[in-house]
Amino acid sequence: MTEEDTKDKGSQVNRSVVEDICKPFIVGDEVYRQIRDVFLNEIKKGLCKYTHESASVKCLLTFVEKLPNGCERGKFLALDVGGTNFRILLLNLDGGENLKIETASYELTESLMTGPGRDLFDFLAECLSTFIHKHDLQKEELNLGFTFAFPLKQTELNKGVLVTWTKAFSCSGVVNHDVVDLFKEAINRRDDIHINNIVILNDTTGTLISCAWDYRETKIALIIGTGTNTCYLEKTKYIELFNGGVNASPTMIINCESGNFGSDGSLDFVRTPIDLILDNNSVNAGQQIYEKMISGMYLGEIVRLILLECINAGAMLNGVHSEEISTPMSLDIKHMSEIEAGEPGNDSATRQIFEIMGYKRPSDEDCEHLRYICNVVSTRSANMAAATLATLVNRVGDPFVVIGVDGTVYRMYPNYPERLRKKLKELARPEYQFCLKVTEDGSGRGAALLAATVFSKKRSP
Ligand code: BGC
Repeated sequence: MTEEDTKDKGSQVNRSVVEDICKPFIVGDEVYRQIRDVFLNEIKKGLCKYTHESASVKCLLTFVEKLPNGCERGKFLALDVGGTNFRILLLNLDGGENLKIETASYELTESLMTGPGRDLFDFLAECLSTFIHKHDLQKEELNLGFTFAFPLKQTELNKGVLVTWTKAFSCSGVVNHDVVDLFKEAINRRDDIHINNIVILNDTTGTLISCAWDYRETKIALIIGTGTNTCYLEKTKYIELFNGGVNASPTMIINCESGNFGSDGSLDFVRTPIDLILDNNSVNAGQQIYEKMISGMYLGEIVRLILLECINAGAMLNGVHSEEISTPMSLDIKHMSEIEAGEPGNDSATRQIFEIMGYKRPSDEDCEHLRYICNVVSTRSANMAAATLATLVNRVGDPFVVIGVDGTVYRMYPNYPERLRKKLKELARPEYQFCLKVTEDGSGRGAALLAATVFSKKRSP
């Protein structure tokens, strides 16, 4: 055998080791169909009064029974909290198609996201005060939609008790408290602004409302960004925890909190050993299992763990561990995006990422393998997102439904929307057509639109 032949043989062996390590992440359609069907069971458990308490997919009531009809008028504020940036919006509606928005974005430091809740709410109130003064709104009657992108137990539109923190938040003194109350208290401590009414909602709910403003057929929304979640319009007769009486609307938005799908073991048939390691090392082990398999906060970590296995098996990077690769959460979804955005055969982005990860001279083969790993992990994410959306498309059962989508993974990750759409087409019943619409800024815009729907001034006769 020549030296060249030996090298080729070595490459083939390495490739098959990498493929073997990735194999548990590549599953057939029967598995995605199973995820779709299991998710339907979980939804039913969440909606049923006897199983709701123990259900992992909580199907939380939102009390949003009416979507905007386009006749809303006035100025409405929104506060959108859920990630490292939080935003304030001012929406001006003229009762017709015109909608004007002013926005401001503020950064939340890590200490605000993990320190005492009081500091967080004081900061939100301070930014709101600055915004109101800047736009000279002190004398207006202000109604505000408050998007809080975490699981909320609601008993009314203006009450939302935080069930648990998710993503990178862990402020003390907020879980089991009504966040509207905490926010009002912070406003009162300042004593320089006044808000008439506040309604509270999840970011998926906001996305659905916002998309419905543009497309009346919207009945489902998906967020796939740092975290993930879905919501949809359910018939109130199936929402056993809701007792709306004779005046109840026929439908209400249900916040599935699908990120927690699988925390009762129902996704164990598709979880890989690496998914188990990631969960064990996380701050909220046992929770948000589906979110940990598909959302932006975790995909980079899955890739890092796969990479480590490939290195340990001697199939990549000459078996050498860098300090960076050994550091949890050091690989970001942004890195994966850059790797997959590069043209096949052009490794410059991948080499840069390797450099960030502490490897100066990766081989062409290492680059090819890393790209392959990213593709396997992001494809599983898109396919799993499609599986639960298929459940909702089938559940809504309209001949045509619009799905509002927001979140950086969907908006920024190369080819993610195409992969998701393709799998959804395969998994939803063929008689139900759908269309996915990006609803950028949906969560904030939706919050202001909800405030508008509830508090809009009536048209003068
Ligand atoms: C939260 C959801 C939220 C989703 C997207 C999840 O971690 O539990 O409430 O909708 O992230 O932001």
